[in-house]
Amino acid sequence: MRLGILISGRGSNFEAIANSIARGNLDAGIAIVISNRANAAGLEIARERGLPVRVIPSQGLDREAYDALLVDELRTHEVELVCLAGFMRLLSAHFVRAFPDRVLNIHPSLLPAFPGLDAQRQAFEHGVKITGCTVHFVDEFLDSGPILMQSAVPVLDSDTVETLSARILAQEHAIYSKSIQLVAEGRVTIEGRRVRIREEDVS
Ligand code: GRF
Repeated sequence: MRLGILISGRGSNFEAIANSIARGNLDAGIAIVISNRANAAGLEIARERGLPVRVIPSQGLDREAYDALLVDELRTHEVELVCLAGFMRLLSAHFVRAFPDRVLNIHPSLLPAFPGLDAQRQAFEHGVKITGCTVHFVDEFLDSGPILMQSAVPVLDSDTVETLSARILAQEHAIYSKSIQLVAEGRVTIEGRRVRIREEDVS
């Protein structure tokens, strides 16, 4: 399955996906890495690995015009599944319709709790005892599409936002690759808000 990865910053989720592929745990290939920011650290990781990279800045473009550029680039690289990995832009309905049920995102909370920015801090300051991360299909609303996989992370008395975020991030890295593998194996179907995962074939 040909992946298009969209990033804006550090790129650790992208790197975890690339590592899963390199280790043979994820049956996919990265067709293109796109960033809306030229200084995204993740771009360097992609270049070092010899992956195709493209910077598409969004300045001066409205959302639909920008998303049309993204769609063109992803289609040029024959992308079959779009993976948002710290991509700090809301996508338009136009974009979502171009890749129906084929756009995933990772979010650092147990959605629908704490959508939006700084989710780990939101959870920490709210005082929840359990938070975590979510892989979900993307619709045109913020952090709102059908949920594919979640991992729970307990909040410890000794935690700071930083230590909590680090444990959540480790789970993000684990469940994003697993989720992509399930899609690649054709085991995932969306029924309304519910995502069903077919049992593994044991033949
Ligand atoms: C992650 O916490 C992810 O859940 C959120 O943005 C952050 C991106 O981190 N959507 P990285 O760029 O993958 O390191």
